[in-house]
Amino acid sequence: MSPATQDRPALDRPAFLRALSGEALPTPPIWMMRQAGRYLPEYRALRAKAGSFLSLCYNPEWAAEVTLQPIRRFGFDAAILFSDILVVPQALGQKLWFVEGEGPRLEPVADERRLGEIEAQADQDVLAPVIETVRRVRASLPRETTFIGFCGAPWTVATYMVAGRGTPDQGPAKALFGSDPALFQKIIDRIVDASIDYLAAQIEAGVDAVQIFDSWAGSLGPDDFERWCVTPTRRLVAGVRARHPQARIIGFPRGAGRLIPHYVQATGVDAVGLESDIDRAFARDEIQSLVPVQGNLDPLVLRAGGPELEREVAAVREAFGAGPFVFNLGHGILPDTPIAHVERLLAAVRA
Ligand code: CP3
Repeated sequence: MSPATQDRPALDRPAFLRALSGEALPTPPIWMMRQAGRYLPEYRALRAKAGSFLSLCYNPEWAAEVTLQPIRRFGFDAAILFSDILVVPQALGQKLWFVEGEGPRLEPVADERRLGEIEAQADQDVLAPVIETVRRVRASLPRETTFIGFCGAPWTVATYMVAGRGTPDQGPAKALFGSDPALFQKIIDRIVDASIDYLAAQIEAGVDAVQIFDSWAGSLGPDDFERWCVTPTRRLVAGVRARHPQARIIGFPRGAGRLIPHYVQATGVDAVGLESDIDRAFARDEIQSLVPVQGNLDPLVLRAGGPELEREVAAVREAFGAGPFVFNLGHGILPDTPIAHVERLLAAVRA
């Protein structure tokens, strides 16, 4: 626990942390994945000034500013650090750039020789500006706002490292763990070690909780899910807890559906994010009975707005409101979402 929150009486603690500790609250705390981003004109302005997404990520003054923008505008219960999951491969020595309008590119690591080459370039200090961003945000965030740090899960990060870009089916990573599981294991282990250091540094600099984004967890069958998602995530969680026993850790194995109860029990996360298309009755009975849940409004519904938005907000609250629950989307907000819909969402959740 951070020094600021550990001695406070329960009622005085931010709603988000109370929900994470297992309390059911009459009004759930709310934040949105990708809440600092392109749907906000103030983000687009600073992004234009920075020139590139990565220049924004690695400039502590600007990154702190964009982290705070959605808090100022909407008063969300939590702020999430502005950065990207792919800064960890960069610290591992891999070149990273973003192609405007397309997405991330890395020089692929698909054999032993390439892994050796990038290891020679590895430098955890690459992440120092991100840690400085954490310190700055912490210093200017209102006390009632929880601060969330994050990293990518080993499996999801490995899919980008191996393919060198986003892929629809994670084919290159799957081909590699099929043909050379020992090499794939090495890549996973490097990511786990770097991510333990990175999350520990974020906690030391002032985040209250961390989230592990496993965007591609849903593309693995049960055996591969165990080996490449559950086992490395368990080691990541244990590694962070070995340094910070009170660390609050949210897992987000997107698309893992019926494998989530096992994921929760085997990894030891404190709470879990739910994708939009999960069966809500199943999630309430089999997942929320184990840990607090976070989710799961469909970002498409938020973008569309109208009466369907109100109906879906009510359905999410109906499913999860009786237990420990953080309101969120099932995936990141879409860049063309009208700001008025976000305002409607907040009004509906807080009504
Ligand atoms: O949630 C937040 O607001 C915190 C910041 C954050 C970003 N990316 C900022 C970002 C977080 C937590 C992420 C996670 C992330 N990044 C994931 C996991 C979650 C998910 O979305 O599945 C993944 C797979 C990435 C890798 C990544 N970064 C991709 C594939 C892309 C391109 C797609 C896109 O949305 O443009 C990015 C770019 C990115 N990351 C942007 C932002 C705000 C857009 C950059 C811009 O301004 O041009």
